[in-house]
Amino acid sequence: MWKFWLTALVGVGHASQTVLRPEPLASNFTTFQSTNSPHSVRIRQQNESICAAGSAQYTGWLDIGPRHLFFWYFESQNDPVADPLTLWMNGGPGGSSILGLFEENGPCLINKHGNGTVYNPWGWSRNSSLLFVDQPADVGWSYIDEGYEVARDSHEAAVDMRHFLQIFVSEIFPHKRFSPFHISGESYAGKYIPYLGVEIVTHNQQYPSEPQINLKSCLIGNGLMSFKDTTFGYWETLCTTNPGVSTPVFNQTRCDIMATNMPRCMEVFDTCAKSLDFAICTAAYSVCYKGIIGWYEDESKKGGRNRFDITAPCEVDDICYKEAAYIEQYMNSPIVREALLPPDGAKEYRFESSAVADAFATTPELMTSSSDHIIFLLSHGVHFLAYQGNLDLACNTAGNLRWAHSLAWKGQTEFTSKPLLPWTSNIAGRDQTVGTAKEVRVQLDGLAEPSRFAFVTVDGAGHMVPQDRRDVAFDILSRWIAGDSFD
Ligand SMILES: *[C@@H]1O[C@H](CO)[C@@H](O)[C@H](O)[C@H]1NC(C)=O
Ligand SMILES: *[C@@H]1O[C@H](CO)[C@@H](O)[C@H](O)[C@H]1NC(C)=O
Ligand SMILES: *[C@@H]1O[C@H](CO)[C@@H](O)[C@H](O)[C@H]1NC(C)=O
Ligand SMILES: *[C@@H]1O[C@H](CO)[C@@H](O)[C@H](O)[C@H]1NC(C)=O
Ligand SMILES: *[C@@H]1O[C@H](CO)[C@@H](O)[C@H](O)[C@H]1NC(C)=O
Repeated sequence: MWKFWLTALVGVGHASQTVLRPEPLASNFTTFQSTNSPHSVRIRQQNESICAAGSAQYTGWLDIGPRHLFFWYFESQNDPVADPLTLWMNGGPGGSSILGLFEENGPCLINKHGNGTVYNPWGWSRNSSLLFVDQPADVGWSYIDEGYEVARDSHEAAVDMRHFLQIFVSEIFPHKRFSPFHISGESYAGKYIPYLGVEIVTHNQQYPSEPQINLKSCLIGNGLMSFKDTTFGYWETLCTTNPGVSTPVFNQTRCDIMATNMPRCMEVFDTCAKSLDFAICTAAYSVCYKGIIGWYEDESKKGGRNRFDITAPCEVDDICYKEAAYIEQYMNSPIVREALLPPDGAKEYRFESSAVADAFATTPELMTSSSDHIIFLLSHGVHFLAYQGNLDLACNTAGNLRWAHSLAWKGQTEFTSKPLLPWTSNIAGRDQTVGTAKEVRVQLDGLAEPSRFAFVTVDGAGHMVPQDRRDVAFDILSRWIAGDSFD
């Protein structure tokens, strides 16, 4: 019942200062083997045959003890040395980041037969090196040795992921060691990303002699930063025309029921947040599900409603988009398997790990917010962008704007006092209004430059903005990493 978000991120770990030495192996992978810790990375270069990427690409696994994280890395098509490094993680929990690669912002996209790819002119590797990781272990082509347990929350996942990134930038691609690093993702990554950011910043500080990760910003598309605010936003999304629809999705009867139930739902969310007691949080979830979420959710299935776009049909159960099935078929096809060479432990590619979804459902994390983590990041000079497809319900704009206003930091007063203003993007050679935006740049104590906090919306897009508006999503990334504003 808890698992109605898509796509996500992973990690594995052990802290120590180690020297990794590349050792060519018989197996067609190059292995970077640590001499005094259990870390190693198997990596091999791929050609355009399985992904029409337009730049050098590498796949492989990070091995840390029993956990093995799959990654797919694309060098920037522009300047692989000077351009930044961007990580992308899908949500879930339990969703494979390969969905993002082949369906959203990767340099190649799954074709309509599910048997090959086409070049994506709006891929995010155009002006940044781009890294996709299936995480936590057990998601996608990542795997975990028999008898070991999968991660249960975003902190456990973040520790593994931080180890991975340290090795990646210091040993495997040392020319990326000082590159500006951005963490991007979607949906449940509204939890993964802030936890990973905090893990990186605190580890950098505590272990200054270890390889540092040069974290500059986090950018999250339709993120689940606060499930409470998301739930509150259900009413506005379904009962008004604000998402950009001509008539509200729900009728007056249903809207009255939801409005009546809302105060009680908000109250039980607070009770859960105070106690963080699993039983209390589960009870809170069921109050809000019955009173609000379920009215739409119970009708979300193949041929029914689509939780990721209130105007779109739902083509297949759960994920609603048939591309997910094509991606699964493609990743398991002989041509891809022969190129990736998944080891025996990685049995079959699935776009969702139910083991991870189930493990996360044994903790109250879903019901909590990642606000404290984001405030911590802003106070350490890490910029934050929330971008939003306005037609999404699962992590809706109304709820996330409410969350952004509620964030208790020095920039709150200025941010809430500003209106959202239209922003334009150059689409097919013409400047067009594509949504609304607002941003503050706030000087915080002890920092050399102001911290940026921005909120950007995209009209006519649902949960997966890079899938629905590829050109606009690319513009958002480019402006953000270049430090440009949205006015
Ligand atoms: C390595 O690749 C070559 C050709 O691509 C293949 O013939 C050989 O069997 C591979 N070796 C292993 C151990 O997979
Ligand atoms: C982005 O990359 C393209 C080539 O792919 C290049 O022409 C352009 O100048 C780059 N933009 C920036 C801001 O680096
Ligand atoms: C993919 O499938 C289509 C339709 O069946 C076929 O025409 C095409 O040749 C296939 N491509 C590859 C690379 O197998
Ligand atoms: C309101 O919508 C629900 C679900 O579509 C429907 O069952 C119900 O009959 C509608 N009520 C009115 C008064 O139209
Ligand atoms: C591309 O890679 C695949 C899989 O590793 C290999 O079979 C094929 O020969 C390669 N093609 C070229 C042109 O190198």
